[in-house]
Amino acid sequence: MEAVAWEQAWHEALYGPHGFYRSQEGPVGHFATATHGPTGVLLAEALVRLAEQHGLTHVVDVGAGRGELLTLLHEANPSLRLTGVDVVGRPSDLPDQVEWLVSPGGADLPDGLDRLTSALVVAHEWLDVVPCPVAEVDAQGVLRLRWVDRAGAESWGAPLTADALAWSKAHWPAGDPGQRVEVGLTRDLAWAGLLRRIDSGLAVAVDYGHRRGERPADGTLTAYRSGRQVEPVPDGTCDLTAHVAMDSLDHTQLLDQRTVLRGLGVNGAPPPHDLARSDPAGYLRALERAGAAAALTAPGGFGDFLWAFRSVG
Ligand SMILES: C[S@@+](CC[C@H](N)C(=O)[O-])C[C@H]1O[C@@H](n2cnc3c(N)ncnc32)[C@H](O)[C@@H]1O
Repeated sequence: MEAVAWEQAWHEALYGPHGFYRSQEGPVGHFATATHGPTGVLLAEALVRLAEQHGLTHVVDVGAGRGELLTLLHEANPSLRLTGVDVVGRPSDLPDQVEWLVSPGGADLPDGLDRLTSALVVAHEWLDVVPCPVAEVDAQGVLRLRWVDRAGAESWGAPLTADALAWSKAHWPAGDPGQRVEVGLTRDLAWAGLLRRIDSGLAVAVDYGHRRGERPADGTLTAYRSGRQVEPVPDGTCDLTAHVAMDSLDHTQLLDQRTVLRGLGVNGAPPPHDLARSDPAGYLRALERAGAAAALTAPGGFGDFLWAFRSVG
């Protein structure tokens, strides 16, 4: 592949005909997220509580992987209507009641996702895999696109377009040679596109990200393959991801995950020792839940994830 802009190479590598996210094993084959295993159980319960608090009866999971979170949501409250959206066909092991829509991928959403009412729309680690322009300030102080070839070698591209530059000036100013910017405009537009599909409800984007004042000078573009962080190469063999400028998303509230989950009753306190004698199996279960709660709220880990909320209607 000739060198092209990162945004284009990234899209092809993840969502092209042989893209990473179209592979059989799915994201869970390459990295763990909070939606998997014991943390997923608590996260699902917290989301059910959030839906109940807002009187919402339908939960839509955008970027649903292979339905891991949906299965746990169904276990937590089988009366909720559930819909998953991802780039692959419906996973065969999903509970029958769960609906599924196939999406084009990246910033684009399927036509069938529309007119959502009374819906809690969750995008857990979706926006970080929506490709965005990667730019760097050159020796003359000009913010220019970085291009990349299939082996991951970078070269200089054109100066940023007017809207990308305006986004950068507003949200991620950079003037020192070598400073990198991951232009979040594509994520803002993807998120706005999702909000337009909702007639009434609450949308929440949950992701690792940053706010103005804490943008990383070198950028965050990286890759994962088979559980290991590797050099970002757009050849379809690895995930490609960059943190999300969460504060530039259209939102009504922006909180860290620790605060949100504590508010929803996720508590990492260990169970009382006495329980070990009176109910050893119950003690072990409670210990596992406390460990999962601690992991979900840990500083330097999942606890630092940001939740951008936007209520609609
Ligand atoms: C990092 S994985 C996260 C999966 C899951 N939400 C989790 O947290 O474990 C990102 C997922 O988003 C999906 N995805 C990317 N763009 C999408 C789109 N436009 N519509 C639906 N799913 C999308 C990918 O296929 C992938 O399964």
